[in-house]
Amino acid sequence: MARDRTLSREVWKNQLGFILAAVGSAVGLGNIWRFSYMTYENGGGAFLIPYLIALFTVGIPLMMLEFAFGHRFIASAPLAFFKLHRRWEWLGWWSVSFVMFGIVLYYCVIISWCLNYLFLSLTLAWGNDPGAFFFGEFLGLSKGPEEIGTVQTPILLGLGIIWFLNWIIVHRGIQRGIELANKIFMPLLLILTTILVFWSITLEGAHVGLRAYLAPDFSALSKPKVWIDAFSQIFFTLSLGFGIMIAYASYLPERANLSRNAIITALLNCGFSLFSGFAVFSILGYMAVETQKPIGEVVKQSIGLAFVAYPAAINLLPGGAVFGVLFFTSLVVAGLSSSVSIIEAFSSAAVDKFPWGRKRIVTTVCILGMLGGIIFTTNGGLFWLDIVDHFLTHFGLMVVGLLEAILASWLLPINTMRNYINSVSEFQVGAWWSFLIKYFIPTVLLIIVISDLITEFQKPYEGYSWKALVFIGVDWLVLTLVLAIFFSKSTWENQNG
Ligand code: ALA
Repeated sequence: MARDRTLSREVWKNQLGFILAAVGSAVGLGNIWRFSYMTYENGGGAFLIPYLIALFTVGIPLMMLEFAFGHRFIASAPLAFFKLHRRWEWLGWWSVSFVMFGIVLYYCVIISWCLNYLFLSLTLAWGNDPGAFFFGEFLGLSKGPEEIGTVQTPILLGLGIIWFLNWIIVHRGIQRGIELANKIFMPLLLILTTILVFWSITLEGAHVGLRAYLAPDFSALSKPKVWIDAFSQIFFTLSLGFGIMIAYASYLPERANLSRNAIITALLNCGFSLFSGFAVFSILGYMAVETQKPIGEVVKQSIGLAFVAYPAAINLLPGGAVFGVLFFTSLVVAGLSSSVSIIEAFSSAAVDKFPWGRKRIVTTVCILGMLGGIIFTTNGGLFWLDIVDHFLTHFGLMVVGLLEAILASWLLPINTMRNYINSVSEFQVGAWWSFLIKYFIPTVLLIIVISDLITEFQKPYEGYSWKALVFIGVDWLVLTLVLAIFFSKSTWENQNG
């Protein structure tokens, strides 16, 4: 306890810096369009019921647990699990590996699309048919995942810029890099989003979109998919199961207010989603009224929402170019603050284990990340992205969350982690927390993972061939698992604990 943390690793300059970084990680591409689209598709306002249930029963308690892992063991995910029980080190490596060599690869490609669209907005270069432009000229989309084709140069260039920015931020370390970047990014994002929301809700027809967003269709609650989507959205949006919150909490000083910080981070993140949803849906309502189409025809699919429906609305809007620049800038900023957190989660794990030095590790990881992302810039890239995203978010993140809850409450006496949280926090968590971690979360997540698995076998996801799903999606999970086992078998050469 009396150990001086600053001797073994860098610490955040202040609590605000930590909260902004944690919120920066949580708030990302997932909040601005994934959330809005999911809400719309899963029964509008009714989706908010499972979403909020997932937030309070799983999201917040698990975030407290991840904070506690990082803070108590002063460690990144693999070292934290190693200290919990040496046999479970692989779990930490698996989470940071499938996130670093999976999620962040395509995540940065989507940020690159946003960066391209930021510049395309200036001249509304997508023309009168943004759908044809996006899938045709911009992505050069092939017929399926088997047909990879060639690299799309503007996307590759954008990707290079994004990885360069990632590298600069993470390379500078915690205080001068991640903390400083988030202290700029988060207020900027709030200003941009506030402008967009107030601009959008004053447009004619905004109410049509807002009705689609918020009017509840309660019959949706009887569908298992709605619940699965709500829980997986909570994992994705709160960056749970990524190993990020463990690494970020390891840089906190002794008195850390873990419980309060987890509540603030989660509520700010979800509040931001709800808030930005007003902008997304108002503009869709505006477009529905302008084009005299029902809103269901305006919102077609998740990716189309930001890169097809939005540009189409921008075409109609007076001052649309400015709106487009603000919207895509906000996506780039939100995306970057999340991508750096993923790179940090893996880098801090490697720094804890290997003697290569942080700067060299960060540089290597960024080069590998850039190279690994190239496949998603090809003509078949969108299919690959869709498949990898589906498998990693459904079967990676939730399995990690499930195992975290089981390990914390079945390997240790049930109240160990709760007592720890309370010993370093002002807000005391009660026995309800232990109950949720020990019984409720494992049960709920197990049910969700199993029912998700059954759906998977019933029909191939999105009609892709089984070959593509196994070769791309399942393999991605398996290969990162092999990598994780490999890392966990090598010896600790630089234990920072
Ligand atoms: N939590 C991040 C997001 O929502 C990954 O995009």
